[in-house]
Amino acid sequence: MKKMVVLTGAGMSAESGISTFRDSGGLWEQYRVEDVATPEGYARNPQLVLDFYNQRRKQLGEVQPCRGHELLASLESAYDVTVVTQNVDNLHERAGSRRVIHLHGELMKVTSSRNPNDVRCIRELTPEHCEIAWGDRAADGSQLRPFIVWFGEAVPLIEKAIEEVERADVFVVIGTSLNVYPAAGLLNYVPEGVPVFLIDPNTVGWHSSRPVVHIRKGASEGMAELIRLLKNYNL
Ligand code: APR
Repeated sequence: MKKMVVLTGAGMSAESGISTFRDSGGLWEQYRVEDVATPEGYARNPQLVLDFYNQRRKQLGEVQPCRGHELLASLESAYDVTVVTQNVDNLHERAGSRRVIHLHGELMKVTSSRNPNDVRCIRELTPEHCEIAWGDRAADGSQLRPFIVWFGEAVPLIEKAIEEVERADVFVVIGTSLNVYPAAGLLNYVPEGVPVFLIDPNTVGWHSSRPVVHIRKGASEGMAELIRLLKNYNL
């Protein structure tokens, strides 16, 4: 089986009803990144940050994977697919994707404030009990916090993602503005000669000389088009 690596961003989940970050009306117009997505913001006002992610979790429970997520999962019958996602939602998994690397953490998981990457402290919430409160403790006794990689924090899974990208036979990028590193830099690890496809209705800041087939459509229509193109390209 050919190895397909797919890098996804917020645009992948837009058709499920989760807003993106940087499009007009996006989350970063409604909230300040520094307040809700940095360790400094959390230290300043933890309640605001806990509430923000409690809300995000509640919203996630109310949405479903879109056709794009489903078509991507269906490709696993023909390809060895690894999804590298910047998204913290679980819509890839709920659509049936089996190998998903969450670079920026997972919304449904919570962890220790003292050592967020201590596996003994990471646990998964259920849709029924998806809120955390000030005073809730992790296994190490520290305040429970969202298992989210905030700006300024290390991205522990990037090495694993690079290893996957370096072995790709086909590389696909879906719904990311490629503004955030190290995720955006993964493109630089795609082996020479490997075809690259981009699904995004808008123009993306493509800081690479690499040729790319841009499918200018949303995630669902774009995935359907990709599946047609893969056949044409004999991939
Ligand atoms: N289908 C596909 N792509 C879409 C759709 C759609 N229906 N609608 C919008 N897009 C595209 C936009 O054109 C844009 O290129 O999705 C992209 C969304 O970009 P951002 O909002 O910047 O999201 P993303 O690239 O995932 O952000 C990266 O930034 O704030 C952080 O940690 C957060 O993981 C996130 C990271």
